[in-house]
Amino acid sequence: MVPNTITSSHAESEASQSSLYAFELIVERLGGKVRAGQKQEYGMMEIEVEKACGLFGNKEVGDRQVVWMSHDDEAVKLPDGFEVVARSHQGSVAGVENRARRFYGLQYHPEVTHSPDGMETLQHFLFDICESLLTGRWKMEDVPDEEIKVIRGMLGPEDHVIYALSEGVDSTVAATAVHQAIGDRLHCVFVDNGLLRYKERERVMETFERELHLPVTCIDATQQFLGKLKGVVDPEMKRKIIGKEFIAIFDAFAQDLEQTMGKRPAYLVQGTLYLDVIESCPPSGSGRTHSHTIKSHHNVGGKVVSIVRALGKILDIPGAFLKRHPFPGPGLAVRVLGDVTEGNALDILRQVGEIFIQSIKDAGIYDSIWQAFAVFLPIRSVGVQGDQRTHSHVVALRAVTSQDGMTADWYNFEHKFLDDVVRKICNSVRGVNRVVQDITSKPPSTIEWE
Ligand code: XMP
Repeated sequence: MVPNTITSSHAESEASQSSLYAFELIVERLGGKVRAGQKQEYGMMEIEVEKACGLFGNKEVGDRQVVWMSHDDEAVKLPDGFEVVARSHQGSVAGVENRARRFYGLQYHPEVTHSPDGMETLQHFLFDICESLLTGRWKMEDVPDEEIKVIRGMLGPEDHVIYALSEGVDSTVAATAVHQAIGDRLHCVFVDNGLLRYKERERVMETFERELHLPVTCIDATQQFLGKLKGVVDPEMKRKIIGKEFIAIFDAFAQDLEQTMGKRPAYLVQGTLYLDVIESCPPSGSGRTHSHTIKSHHNVGGKVVSIVRALGKILDIPGAFLKRHPFPGPGLAVRVLGDVTEGNALDILRQVGEIFIQSIKDAGIYDSIWQAFAVFLPIRSVGVQGDQRTHSHVVALRAVTSQDGMTADWYNFEHKFLDDVVRKICNSVRGVNRVVQDITSKPPSTIEWE
């Protein structure tokens, strides 16, 4: 954290050949040394204050706090003028300062909820250390009007826009804002790619039309997607194929619209409120192919989801809709490990997922969980059901708490809850004879399995 130079750039470390960010970047760039791969510190760690520092408020030398870490790089030499202010219980540098130049660095994530004192640390940084640099004029309430102005400013009065709508909160909030900006010049498209959850298409269309009053065309592209995914087991390949098919579908939709209106839609909008996802289509007759990169990188959505929920409230989107757990763009394809078209994997996963989520809702714990879902594993195990030996599928249950999807911890269900859910699954989903629970945090795992 550097109050007088805020940078998002990154550098290649000579030592590790890996990307350096923030703390490590400060250390390397200013003449210190970072060594890779010596100390693995992933997930919950304890640090101890080694020197009183403005970042930690009134905390004294020897005070400890729990933080969330995710690195295996270590600062082994600090630049001149820097001092260690905190160390991890493994002895590596967890915080540094150069008080004279007002440079600060932390080798952990103060911004995530799993670092309970992290927000306070950031507040000390912003309001004590950077005090004179901040004006504090920004208000969430002003954002929708500002965004609507920006959108109107970008478009000509006759311009039409295609919106690639997903069932995600971020997508819906952004679509509502664009709809408020341009009314019926917005054409939302919802694609059923065959990778949706149980009865999701019906539920989502009902919500879009009845509750949110968004004009939506639903395209059933199940065969198109599953045909292309047949036999594909590599997770990245699956994502690429899915992204490509989405583009082909939006392209075809844009052409149809052009024929009807006599003018090519000016923009394809997708996903989050980030400006970089608003991508211009080449004008009609430009001779260039009509292509858009739908981001396969997904964490942008996770990072902004809490902000987006707050915006959604201002835009009057119903609370129940805003609180829905996030769902990844590639859908169940990243939750069926291996070939998604193999046997009835997707059907099994839909049924298991529905039982799991419904049980979570019935137990009144849905809102305490960031995301809960089932994963179909590409293995079979032996079981005994009704005097019969079975050789059936194994599914995993995953539920995590998180603030932003960047880090996560596993949700600790009561044993009785788990017992009931597992019984329900094995008794009602044909083809499943074993259920396991994933209790790994992020890091070292990710939330999704692929
Ligand atoms: P991971 O698995 O990286 O996921 O820990 C973090 C959050 O992002 C969601 N996710 C995605 N969202 N498109 C999306 O819109 C994607 O390709 C994608 N992949 C993961 C994931 O569900 C979690 O909330």
